Amino acid sequence: MRDTSYQHPNDPVPQLTPTEHARVLTRVLASPVIKGPIIRRPKAVDMAERMDLDSAGVDELKKLRAKYGPGPVQLQLFPGRRIALLLDPEDVHRVLNNTPEPFSPASMEKRGALNHFQPSGVLVSNPEQRKIRRPFNEEALEAGKTVHSHAETMTRAIREEVDALRGHLDFTQALEWKAFSQMWWRLVRRITLGDSARDDEQVTTYLNELRARGNVSYLVPKNRKQRKRFLTTLQHYLERAEPGSLAAMAAHTASTDKTVPEQQIPQWMFAFDAASWGAFRALSLLSVDPETSAAARAETQESFPDMPQLRAVMLESLRLWPTTPLILREAEEPTTWRNGTLQEGTSIVIFAPFFHRDDETLPEAHRFSPQLWLENRDDSDWPLVPFSGGPGFCPGRNVVLLTASAVLGELLQHHDFEPASSTKNVSEPLDLENLPGTLSPFSSRFAVTRR
Ligand code: HEM
Repeated sequence: MRDTSYQHPNDPVPQLTPTEHARVLTRVLASPVIKGPIIRRPKAVDMAERMDLDSAGVDELKKLRAKYGPGPVQLQLFPGRRIALLLDPEDVHRVLNNTPEPFSPASMEKRGALNHFQPSGVLVSNPEQRKIRRPFNEEALEAGKTVHSHAETMTRAIREEVDALRGHLDFTQALEWKAFSQMWWRLVRRITLGDSARDDEQVTTYLNELRARGNVSYLVPKNRKQRKRFLTTLQHYLERAEPGSLAAMAAHTASTDKTVPEQQIPQWMFAFDAASWGAFRALSLLSVDPETSAAARAETQESFPDMPQLRAVMLESLRLWPTTPLILREAEEPTTWRNGTLQEGTSIVIFAPFFHRDDETLPEAHRFSPQLWLENRDDSDWPLVPFSGGPGFCPGRNVVLLTASAVLGELLQHHDFEPASSTKNVSEPLDLENLPGTLSPFSSRFAVTRR
């Protein structure tokens, strides 16, 4: 390990060599971009799985830590754009706890992507706007409550949609991504917009077309007409405020002309997509773990809808395969670190798979360990950040865990799931003691039998 202690605090944080620079671009940062940062490209995700790109990224950062020590390292993406990679949990806590100032979530990269459909969303808001929009999101999503007060309506929608899927399961004796995803989007529309949105595929199409633009960020112009059509549709659901929906929560939460409620909802809808990948991967884990599945089945009888075991399985899925692999912040002023300073405007990157799969510090790194999330633990001990952390943490965390655990519980009630052949190259079935670094939900398939 290089001794960086001689550095004067005013020296810049160590800069990567050209070779390291190229390796970080290709082995760490390219994978999330190729897979699609805002809407996933299933073929690219399948390819990433075959090449286990996420493990390559983790290995690369381990090498950098071995050489430079735990302080951040930096590279220049293009003239005027510096990126710092964090390598130490303590620094992750520092950055997340000091959001939004001086570490703003509204980084240039995020603004480029999200402005295509939610330019007034909280995630791309400046600190002043954030003061209004963040509490609005927290209140509507009841961020601090394990079970949302609309849980009854939400779980009714889940029961009905999983019931509708059962016909397909019994008839085909299989479950594949397409059927699962179709069911998922129906329930997402019901939970976010109201029951009447169940079959409003148009609103999802608007959103997904705009997300596809978000994937290429500044490289394509905004489709303002499409954005207007999309946001007008959301406005309509806000006005309907169907009882039990998140739109009703938004409609009844205090707002000012700076809140722009209809631009907070796209984040809720699009982020629910990530929950579908996480839930399908959780089903992959359950399908090779009869013991945990049995415990989860018992739990659905005993403590529905607050089911710690199934929530822990979902959290484990998100630890093993984080759906937000890059957590980005922008330093709004020069900042001092143990190994030097970073200029104002530096983009700070937390590559979540590195912290979640660091087998040099986390014995459970590659093992299915839902108990990690069941033990009483102090969040500041370790940086497992599937939902980020600090004042910018995901306010939808509890809604996601409620939804995913209820869907998994409903599925397990009447059916057994076993892994079925797919296009995968990773060893199948999953080895719970040594899980792959990348897992595509899109090519996962299950053989299904009625219990
Ligand atoms: C598996 C599903 C999800 C995961 C893993 C997830 C994770 C995250 C992460 C990591 C962030 C922080 C991003 C950053 O700091 O750059 C975030 C932000 C956010 N999430 Fe989620 N999310 C999920 C689903 C949802 C859902 C379903 C909702 C709403 C119903 C939601 C609402 C939000 C909002 C409003 C923010 C912005 C918070 C802010 O900027 O203060 N998320 N989420």
